[in-house]
Amino acid sequence: MEFKEVVTSASTSRDFLDVEVPDKTVFEILDIARFAPSGGNRQGWHVVLFKDKEIRQSLKELYVSAWSEYMGYVSLGEVPFLRPAEGDANLQEAMKVHYPLPFADNLDQHPVLLGIFVDLNQLAVTDGNIGRQSIVGGASIYPFCHNILLAARSMGLGGVITTVLARRETQVRELVSLPNNFAMAGLMALGVPRRQPQRLKRKNVGEFTTVDSFNGPSFAL
Ligand SMILES: Cc1cc2nc3c(=O)[nH]c(=O)nc-3n(C[C@H](O)[C@H](O)[C@H](O)COP(=O)(O)O)c2cc1C
Repeated sequence: MEFKEVVTSASTSRDFLDVEVPDKTVFEILDIARFAPSGGNRQGWHVVLFKDKEIRQSLKELYVSAWSEYMGYVSLGEVPFLRPAEGDANLQEAMKVHYPLPFADNLDQHPVLLGIFVDLNQLAVTDGNIGRQSIVGGASIYPFCHNILLAARSMGLGGVITTVLARRETQVRELVSLPNNFAMAGLMALGVPRRQPQRLKRKNVGEFTTVDSFNGPSFAL
């Protein structure tokens, strides 16, 4: 597959055929993904490949409960996690509901599950402590995740990066013996997609690029 085709057709897959992905393929995917850039080239990532049935079951339970928390906000018309749930009985109740989601409810069945962790001591956070939410740290781990998706796509596989489970980092830390200086960046699922990947729907360049100033003329050819 050509580079442009890989990038423009690597749509998110959350539903996979019951087809095993050999370790050799997973290894090849990670062997490509490791060429991702990171701040100072510190490569603070650590991947846990989840194979054990019981651990997968625990991850599913944690994911489902975190999903309920997420949907609790959504069901009240709110942006998830913008405000704490403590002290709001309505929100607390909404978070106890089970919101069916095949991806989460079958999490333990996905062919490949990768926990993506990052060493916080290795992040070059150039926008730390400047009085707003920091964004730069994540850029030292998510390019690696995207490389995994692109490598998978180039091999006829599909997948998704999820961040819902970061809400249960404390429990995941215990489950995988995660050192204190590591954070959970995401949980990725890979497999042979049940449906053919779609061409991605994205904004055009001129809709998000301007010349010389934020309000400058749109950069369009
Ligand atoms: C940082 C990040 C976090 C994401 N978190 C989740 C998630 O928790 N659960 C999920 O199902 N998808 C998650 N996604 C997948 C997005 O929903 C997906 O990339 C987006 O909808 C575009 O889908 P498409 O590429 O198929 O068009 C995440 C993607 C990114 C990049």
